[in-house]
Amino acid sequence: MSPIDVVEPQSSNKSEPLTSQQVVDLTRQHNYGTWRFQKGWNPMHIVDAEGCYIVDGSGKRYLDFSSQLMCSNLGHKNQAVVEAIARQAQQLSYAMPGYATTARAELSQILLEVLPRGINKFFFTTSGTEANEAAFKIARMYTGKSKIIARYRSYHGSTAGSIAATGDPRRWAMEPGGKGPGILFAPEVHCYKCPIKHTYPGCGIACADYIEHMIRNESDVAAVLVEPIVGTNGVIVPPEEYMPKLRRICDEYGVLLIADEVMTGWGRTGEWFAMNHWGVVPDILVTAKGITSAYVPLGLCATSEKIAEFFQDHYFAHGHTYEAHPLTLAPAVATIREMQRLGLVERARELAPYVEGKLRELKAKHASVGDVRGKGLFWAVDLVKDQTTKEPFNTYSDKVSGKPLLVDQIAAKILADGVTIQAWVSHFVIAPPLIVTKEQIDHGISVLDKHLGLADAAVGQ
Ligand SMILES: Cc1ncc(COP(=O)(O)O)c(C=O)c1O
Repeated sequence: MSPIDVVEPQSSNKSEPLTSQQVVDLTRQHNYGTWRFQKGWNPMHIVDAEGCYIVDGSGKRYLDFSSQLMCSNLGHKNQAVVEAIARQAQQLSYAMPGYATTARAELSQILLEVLPRGINKFFFTTSGTEANEAAFKIARMYTGKSKIIARYRSYHGSTAGSIAATGDPRRWAMEPGGKGPGILFAPEVHCYKCPIKHTYPGCGIACADYIEHMIRNESDVAAVLVEPIVGTNGVIVPPEEYMPKLRRICDEYGVLLIADEVMTGWGRTGEWFAMNHWGVVPDILVTAKGITSAYVPLGLCATSEKIAEFFQDHYFAHGHTYEAHPLTLAPAVATIREMQRLGLVERARELAPYVEGKLRELKAKHASVGDVRGKGLFWAVDLVKDQTTKEPFNTYSDKVSGKPLLVDQIAAKILADGVTIQAWVSHFVIAPPLIVTKEQIDHGISVLDKHLGLADAAVGQ
């Protein structure tokens, strides 16, 4: 290939606006669709979003029943956040991380109002994945130890370290190396489908005991990493005793507890952070998504005072060009202020029994609904082929082998009826923006109800 071939433009810039079809075609031809085969990707052209709704290129409105990727907690087009972005862009679009900025100071101040007590030193990233990477490095530097105990049925991000610590099969594509040095997996806490086959409460929280067993039998354990309520993998709420017990175990063996609150933070579960439900303060709290309600990409790795103290005279060997990027921080301040003004944490807590009641009705009505579970405005509807064996309709192996998944077929029908809902392997995640009304909840659940017949018809087959 001659130099001229290499620099020849592959497309000429047209001045006419793109049609919706061109937008979709250019997107799928030149962009990677994530976690999927590229063939068959037909992304919706989204042109607008407001409140709990998104709008496609034809002008059709959809109820956003999973807050996109469980992140648009404040709903779309909140003017205070939009204005904060514009203001910051006008004033100071970028400053390197070595500088102090007003946005950085204001966010630090407001974080101290909402984070668990004692979590008071911050490292900002541009994703949840990177915030976990920071947490792992900090835990390893602080303890001088290397191993991290994560759990199966967990997701912690997509880059080298965080995919290695991911217990769900998204890690498989990176195996064998993807497991990474020093990552160990403990059984998930999942009373509906307990992998240890104990029965809560008779089990005495055997899944936590197992983590203690691992720590005792391994040397060099730096941290235990948990999603306080497992997110994508099925909104799995641990029993009341689990988190306090894990805290005690970590304290006893001098192991750090890292809470990955990327999805569960920011009011989603009816508390600012899900760990608050059990009165447990982690050593490191990782978050992203709802911190800006996804208006701009921001992640946060927040540590305890004792970790902060350690780095006073130990080298902090971590950084990014975009760490504490002012354009990401100013909207976070506006988001948190808006959440406080609108009382959205309380709202998620208050609406929880309403959603739960509706979902329990759904379970009673449909043979395919094995379990409904959640907290706040964060719920899963888990589909099973058989109520006794709890066998799912599909597994992750079906997904990576390209087999059509029943939940995706149902989600497509729900979408055609004007509701977007996240489907994952054999369950749906219901997580509307925290500004959602009871009428919108009724509507979203009634559309789900309408299409669950497809799963009911497949029960026992
Ligand atoms: C619990 C959890 N941790 C980490 C991540 C990764 O965050 P991000 O996609 O912002 O990199 C996610 C994303 O869904 C998540 O749910």
